[in-house]
Amino acid sequence: MNMATTFGQAISEVDQLIIGQAHELSDKLKQHRLEMFPPVAQKSLRQFQLSEAARFLGVTSGYLRNLSLESKGPLPQVTPSGRRSYTAEQLQEMRAYLEQNSRGQRYVPRRRNGEHLQVIAVVNFKGGSGKTTTTAHLAQHLALTGHRVLAVDLDPQASLSAIHGFQPEFDVDENETLYGAIRYDDQRRPLKEIIRKTNFPGLDIVPGNLELMEFEHDTPRILAQGNSGDYGRIFFARLDEALSSVADDYDVVVIDCPPQLGFLTMSAICGATAALITVHPQMLDVMSMCQFLQMLGEVLNTLKSAGGNMNLDWLRYLVTRYDPADGPQTQMVAFMRSLFKQHVLTNPMVRSVAIADAALTNQTLYEVERSQFTRATYDRALESMEAVNTEIVELIHKAWGR
Ligand SMILES: Nc1ncnc2c1ncn2[C@@H]1O[C@H](COP(=O)(O)OP(=O)(O)OP(=O)(O)O)[C@@H](O)[C@H]1O
Ligand SMILES: [Mg+2]
Repeated sequence: MNMATTFGQAISEVDQLIIGQAHELSDKLKQHRLEMFPPVAQKSLRQFQLSEAARFLGVTSGYLRNLSLESKGPLPQVTPSGRRSYTAEQLQEMRAYLEQNSRGQRYVPRRRNGEHLQVIAVVNFKGGSGKTTTTAHLAQHLALTGHRVLAVDLDPQASLSAIHGFQPEFDVDENETLYGAIRYDDQRRPLKEIIRKTNFPGLDIVPGNLELMEFEHDTPRILAQGNSGDYGRIFFARLDEALSSVADDYDVVVIDCPPQLGFLTMSAICGATAALITVHPQMLDVMSMCQFLQMLGEVLNTLKSAGGNMNLDWLRYLVTRYDPADGPQTQMVAFMRSLFKQHVLTNPMVRSVAIADAALTNQTLYEVERSQFTRATYDRALESMEAVNTEIVELIHKAWGR
C-alpha cells in the first residue's frame, strides 16, 4: 500500500468521522431546541415595568402613572401591590395616544418626508468584538423607542437570527436569507418576501445561515466574467438595491456583519449610511482593527474607481466589553480617544455577566427578567447599554436634521 492510498483512507475515515459527529451534534441540538423552544411557539416578550416604559416613551414615571390612574391610554397590568407593567404592543399604543393628545409634541419618532432611511453597518473583522450583541440591543432599543426597524443578519453563523428565535439550521430554508434577494441568477426574489417578524413589535429581521457564503463564492466568479449580463449589476449595489425596495416600511436598518472583510461586509458598507465599528479595548484587538481600517481604506479606493461610493452620515467606534477596573483597557480607551477624538462614542459598553448570561439563552437585556440577576448587576448593564443606544439614536436623529 503506498502513501497516497493510506493518506486517502485516512482522509475518508476522518470525513466519515466528521460527518458522523455533525449528524450527532445536529440531532442533539434539535432536541435541545425542542426543549427550549417548543415547535411553532414563537419567542415571547416580557412586560415592561412602568419606569422602563416611561423611559422608552420619553415621559416621566409620574406622568405615566397618572395616565393609568385616570384610565387614559392603554391600561397596564397592575399587581396587587400596585406595580404596573406594559406589553411592548401597549408601548406602541401609548405612543400613538400621547401624540394624538399632545399639542404638537412628537412621541412617534418615525422618519418623515426628506428624512432618509438610516442603514447602520456594525463592522469589524475581529471575531467576538461585540458586533452581534451591539446589533441586537440597538435594533431592539430602536423598536422599543418607536422606530420601525429592520435587522439584517449578514453573518453565515447567524447568531443574530438565533437571538430572535430563528435557528439557522432548522428555521431558515434555502433562499430565505439576504442571499435570496441579492443573488445573481434567476432565483432571486424580492426582499419583502424574505423578511420576518420578531417578538419585538416594530422589529423585523432578515435571517441568515450558511447560505450567505454563496455570495462570497459567486461574486468573484461574476466579477471574473467581466460582463455579468442581466443579473449582473455590480456586487456592491445589490444590497443597497434590495434595501431600497423595502425602504418605505422602515426608519432604520441595522446590519450585523460577519467577522471578515469579504463581499458581504463590503456590500453592507456600500449600502450603509452609517458605520459602527465595535472594538474591545485590548492591544491585540486594536491591532487587528488597525489592519481592518487599512484594508477598508484600500477596498474603498478600489470601489470608488469602479463607481461605488461610501456615503456615510457618521462613523463611530464603540468600545465594547469594557472593564473600567482594568488598567491596560483604560489606557487603550484613552489612546483611542486621543487618536479618533469625537469618533469614539462617549459611552462605552461595559462588560457584564448580565449580558453574557442572557446570551447563553439567546436573549438580550431587554428580554431577560431583572429578577434573574442581582439588581445592581442588571441595572449597571442596562444603564450602560441605554447610554450607548441613546447616543446612537441621537446620531440617527441628527442625520435626519432634527
Ligand atoms: N458587554 C458585554 N459583557 C459581557 N459579555 C459580552 C458583552 N458583549 C458581548 N459579550 C459576549 O462576548 C461574546 C462575543 O460577542 P458577540 O457575539 O456580540 O461578538 P461578535 O463580534 O458578533 O462575534 P463574531 O465576530 O463571532 O460574530 C458573546 O459571547 C457575547 O455574549
Ligand atoms: Mg457576531
